[in-house]
Amino acid sequence: MNVAVFASGRGSNLNAIIEAIRKGVLPAHLSLVVSNNASAGALELARSHNIPAVRIRQNDFSSEEAFSEELLSCLARHEVEFIALAGYMKKIPPQIIGRFRNKITNIHPALLPAFGGPGMYGMHVHEAVLRAGVKITGVTVHLVDEEYDHGPIVLQRPVEVAPYDDPVSLAARVQAVEHEVYPLVLKAFAEGRVTVKGARAWIEP
Ligand code: GRF
Repeated sequence: MNVAVFASGRGSNLNAIIEAIRKGVLPAHLSLVVSNNASAGALELARSHNIPAVRIRQNDFSSEEAFSEELLSCLARHEVEFIALAGYMKKIPPQIIGRFRNKITNIHPALLPAFGGPGMYGMHVHEAVLRAGVKITGVTVHLVDEEYDHGPIVLQRPVEVAPYDDPVSLAARVQAVEHEVYPLVLKAFAEGRVTVKGARAWIEP
């Protein structure tokens, strides 16, 4: 399975994916890394591993259609079959979602549908979790559809909120779980073990 990772930031999930492929845990080929952000750590990380890395952003195009066309032809050139969003801060245009239906995943640092949607990214998520006083948060990997932080949930893992947590300590524990589960979900897709039926998705053993 040829995978493209879309990332806007640090790229720690990208790193976990690279490592899982290197160790032979994830039977996939990382064909491309895409970012909207020229200074994303993810782009640097990709280049240091000789993975094709492109910065492409909608603002540089006259329309969403023109941006989508360029993105689609870039994905086709690199023979991309699957897209993993890993901290990608921009909305995926509907043309891309249509072309890659049920072949785009996103990882979110909470248990959706709680603590998701516009504005719920990065530390904002963990701050909101602590403000709400919930005792369990976690990680969600879901398929991407036209709505933000929406689409069939493929896997969730809980993380306990400790009384002494602050957003930074909580984020660190949640991210450690992200790095463990995202490669496993991608492995399930690569092995054809993900079933999607309507609003629901699950991994077959
Ligand atoms: C992760 O916490 C992920 O859940 C969210 O963005 C963050 C990306 O972190 N969507 P990194 O760039 O992979 O370190």
